[in-house]
Amino acid sequence: MSKTESIGKKAVSKPKQKGENLVPIFIMGKRYEVPASLTIQKALEYAGYQLVRGCGCRGGICGACGTVFRYPNSYRIEVGLACQTVVQPDMYIAQIPFFPGNKAVYDIETLPATGSTIAALYPEVFKCVGCGTCTRSCPMDIDVMAYISKAIQGDITSLAENSFDCVMCGLCSARCPAEEVQYNIAVLGRRLYARHLVPKARHVAKAVENSEKKLWDKTLNDLKKMSQDELKKAYKALEIEPDMADEFWVPKDKTYVQED
Ligand code: SF4
Ligand code: SF4
Ligand code: FES
Repeated sequence: MSKTESIGKKAVSKPKQKGENLVPIFIMGKRYEVPASLTIQKALEYAGYQLVRGCGCRGGICGACGTVFRYPNSYRIEVGLACQTVVQPDMYIAQIPFFPGNKAVYDIETLPATGSTIAALYPEVFKCVGCGTCTRSCPMDIDVMAYISKAIQGDITSLAENSFDCVMCGLCSARCPAEEVQYNIAVLGRRLYARHLVPKARHVAKAVENSEKKLWDKTLNDLKKMSQDELKKAYKALEIEPDMADEFWVPKDKTYVQED
């Protein structure tokens, strides 16, 4: 597979800066020398790749940059996010911007928030052999095996809570001997939890009701008529909630405060 096909267009690699400590790495088998302080993502760009896939937030949030790598003389396949992992000498690197996984189609409104829903949509969940490979693969340090165990038990709340930090990189699934797609099972759990189990927020319902009564229309129309300077002045005059305010904080002007 060519560079262009797998991770992006070829751009011009950067010339070496004086005093830079360079280390050799291998990108899909080809040797490059890159500064030792770079993340894999920056090293790919330094080597001349323009990333058009497998790169999103650059901050460990979007999960687009799943990468596998291996050191010489090691039998282990290592995994990590390219934007978070610093290069090491002689790394062999390949990106997995997308991993093909089983994804059930469903209408969340009609599904019961029980273990039987997970069993029906993802019956392979019961094939888990408890090997822990998924947990060891996760760049977000999530105990993936534990949330799969919650899915098997039908404990939707724990499944949702334990998988909350998942960035959908797919690395856990790539190495699962039971061919589970853990992150899609987790998404189902979080959707069931959010739609059917989490208590309704009264203030949101009240806000929707007030909006339907067009309670804020006059304020919005007044704002729309303001010039940029007037908007800035109005914004600066607002009483801003202090950073460390407790949950009982209310502004002095209670015009827009909704009572429960
Ligand atoms: S890698 Fe697969 S089989 Fe192993 S613990 Fe995780 S879900 Fe279970
Ligand atoms: S649970 Fe799986 S998909 Fe989610 S962040 Fe961890 S390895 Fe990536
Ligand atoms: S680019 Fe978003 S997690 Fe790496």
